[in-house]
Amino acid sequence: MYLFQSERLGFRAWKEDDLDFLCKMNGSEKVMRFFPRTTNREENKIFLKRLQKAFRVDGFTFYALDRLEDGVLIGMTGFYFTQIIIPNAPDIEIGWRLHDDYWNKGYATEAALRCLQYGFSALNLKEVASFTACINKPSEHVMKKVGMKFRCEFNHPKIAAGDDLERHVLYTINRKQYENSI
Ligand SMILES: CC(C)(COP(=O)(O)OP(=O)(O)OC[C@H]1O[C@@H](n2cnc3c(N)ncnc32)[C@H](O)[C@@H]1OP(=O)(O)O)[C@@H](O)C(=O)NCCC(=O)NCCS
Repeated sequence: MYLFQSERLGFRAWKEDDLDFLCKMNGSEKVMRFFPRTTNREENKIFLKRLQKAFRVDGFTFYALDRLEDGVLIGMTGFYFTQIIIPNAPDIEIGWRLHDDYWNKGYATEAALRCLQYGFSALNLKEVASFTACINKPSEHVMKKVGMKFRCEFNHPKIAAGDDLERHVLYTINRKQYENSI
């Protein structure tokens, strides 16, 4: 059932009946605090299809994350081709988003570490990026905890100038840095 597992989490492709969960997670003001806005059911249908297509075409996606002890879907973590151009950055990003019921339990860091291991071995990735709004400290904290290195700040090209989400941090990690960090 799972593509791979960590101690507490199972990583899998997305199913049609995950839509209700995506609507709950992406419809939450709290979860989407550092994104331009929440998204509605129609947008989440498209989002689900994109996640499924990426898995089919690229061989990876932001995987659905199940908690192994009860099979509950808690969020997503994985890889995606970066949708914006960031000069001198790798073109694949690692990203994470959990429903807020599952924050502060170490799941995001556990998921990111397991994804990096999977990415650098099974997927043969060379280097990955992660980026977020400078004010998204919980996400930057995950980047640091999994051994990613700060590269630069940049202005997100799709966010309005002057918006408090415009300024972003970019972190990266390559296979060698990952191997040296474990
Ligand atoms: C970013 C996000 C995934 C981080 O989730 P999180 O739960 O804070 O992250 P972690 O998994 O690292 O867990 C954090 C805390 O859990 C605590 N924790 C509790 N049990 C733990 C355990 N068994 N193991 C490890 N940590 C544990 C730790 O204290 C840890 O904090 P610390 O490292 O400061 O001590 C979450 O805030 C989120 O989904 N945000 C909305 C979406 C988003 O902004 N995504 C990023 C966009 S780029």
